[in-house]
Amino acid sequence: MEFIRIDAWPPPEPVDYRPQLEAGNVLFFPKTPFPFPEESQQFLRQLNFAGGAIHKNIAYRPAQDKVTGFPADSGKMDRLRYIMREYSQAVVQFMAELFPQYAAAWKLDYASFRPVEEENRNLPVNKRNDLIHTDAFPSRPTNGDLILRVFTNIHPVKTRNWITTDPFRLIAGQYATGAGLREIAASSDSVSGWMRRQSARVLHGLGLPVVPRSPYDRFMLHFHEYLKRNAGFQQNCPKYRFNFPPGSTWLAFTDLVPHSVHSGQHALEQTFIIARQSMADPANAPVAILERICGKPLIPASTPKPSRHPAA
Ligand code: SIN
Ligand code: FE
Repeated sequence: MEFIRIDAWPPPEPVDYRPQLEAGNVLFFPKTPFPFPEESQQFLRQLNFAGGAIHKNIAYRPAQDKVTGFPADSGKMDRLRYIMREYSQAVVQFMAELFPQYAAAWKLDYASFRPVEEENRNLPVNKRNDLIHTDAFPSRPTNGDLILRVFTNIHPVKTRNWITTDPFRLIAGQYATGAGLREIAASSDSVSGWMRRQSARVLHGLGLPVVPRSPYDRFMLHFHEYLKRNAGFQQNCPKYRFNFPPGSTWLAFTDLVPHSVHSGQHALEQTFIIARQSMADPANAPVAILERICGKPLIPASTPKPSRHPAA
């Protein structure tokens, strides 16, 4: 895999970077290619000192214009929401120019501010981001679409340090069968699998916290933890290190690029769910890779596609 550096933005001629990204590379902009004012960055960095109120990420839901993970009564909520919206909108505008084909069908997911130093965090294994993993969201199955994330390091001096490994195609080829892909795939055409999805759908419809998941989403959620818990994989996989400097922005399909963060503080992030059909080559989607490995469909025909939010 490669960290592909883009110095000049916008480029003199439009460039389609989809094949580079879909191959499992990271696009890296040493200078953040969209406006994000220094006062806003300072405000976010200073939140850390607000009486130890922050223990985890602050999340922003663009569709509801809502911030979670920060005390609503702190007196800082209005400004915080404004700044998260400002970041989210700037990223969306930039990404729509960089990837017009994705923008035509993407679903805008959450943004986040990551205020905590990543080094020596005391987290349970499944939440540790210093172990190499592929991303999957427990509460938001993608049904075979992809997770694209844009990160910005707003620390004034410290780099954000990542280690990645070979793209999903190679890692899944080596580990997916051992992780139980065939067993999960077999449930896609079994009666019990169908009944599990139907009852999950009914309970979900009644407002209960049950998430109907396709076999693909069940496998990806499992694989996330399987990789984190696999000491052999963690130790022996090829490692590519990259330290993202202050003021830089980078983006990757975090389900296609196994990744980990080892140190760094004060990053912003915006997630997009990219429709598989809008890829330069949908055969490179993780779901297509897994279906080739197990020889079975992983998205049952009856799985309804989630409705799409407007692009901005
Ligand atoms: C992750 O998605 O594992 C975290 C990456 C980061 O916060 O830099
Ligand atoms: Fe991750």
